[in-house]
Amino acid sequence: MTSSNPSLALLNERFSLGDRLRFEQHRSGLTQGVIESDRCSGRFFLLGGHVAAYHRKGSPNPILFMSDQAVYEVGKPIRGGIPICFPWFGPHKQDPKAPAHGLVRTELWNVVASREDEGGVHIELSYAIAPWEVRYRIRFGDTLGLEFHATNRSSEPRDFELALHTYFSLSSVEQVEVRGLEESPFLDQLTKKVHAETHAPIRFVEETDRIYEGEQKEIQIVDAGWKRTIEILPQNSKSTVVWNPWIEKAKRLSDFGDDEYPRMCCIETAQVGQNAVRVDPNEGYSVAVTICEGKTA
Ligand code: BG6
Repeated sequence: MTSSNPSLALLNERFSLGDRLRFEQHRSGLTQGVIESDRCSGRFFLLGGHVAAYHRKGSPNPILFMSDQAVYEVGKPIRGGIPICFPWFGPHKQDPKAPAHGLVRTELWNVVASREDEGGVHIELSYAIAPWEVRYRIRFGDTLGLEFHATNRSSEPRDFELALHTYFSLSSVEQVEVRGLEESPFLDQLTKKVHAETHAPIRFVEETDRIYEGEQKEIQIVDAGWKRTIEILPQNSKSTVVWNPWIEKAKRLSDFGDDEYPRMCCIETAQVGQNAVRVDPNEGYSVAVTICEGKTA
């Protein structure tokens, strides 16, 4: 699986970038990378290769939501930010005892590289889970860039599912409309029904758990309350998961506040279900997304 957590001193010696990137101990004891540049602030954990915060300088509100009830512990997922679901999404198809959303969101990843350029602060993380070698590139700049790459190191073709399970921070879910998925058929995970017809932009009015099919170029979260639009620009992703737990499910989640569901929605850049990726031996596959913040016109 992974190597043990390297010391903070070693991480800082090898990868810190002055004040723009440094490694610290989170109050939980976990190691986190902290980004503080003239463009943005941000945080990521080695646990799960988990981006926990991204906040553009000058913007009154953060882009990513993090639950006040989140648990920060190796072996458990962190509720909020961007957990990575891999190599399967949701329950394991054959093994009901296997953890939901795969194995990498609850384990410690390695730092491979860091650098700075005009695009911002770049960090590269890695994780090995046979037969996969995973690289994850994060760019904290005027926009947040994420690129996930998995290489199949076995001698046979293998399949994976992936979701960059992004929790977006909202003024209030009732004030929000998600645009860009109107033409895409979706599977309602709650009713198991497929909806193939064109539909209106998404408004959250109840528990929502949907997998949209098709490659998206741009999805917008238009937040009238905060007068901002978040643009999500996926690359090479053929599924988009949209999730809000709403009232009853929020109560059932032990690591999520009962009253937190109005402040978030998940729009996940993904390859899941029939869009699971088949990768030949020693070949790789990348999925990427850029997340941008703009004012609402
Ligand atoms: C979403 C799934 O991606 O993640 C939902 O579509 C699931 O079905 C949600 O409830 C949260 O999953 P978890 O394992 O983090 O509680």
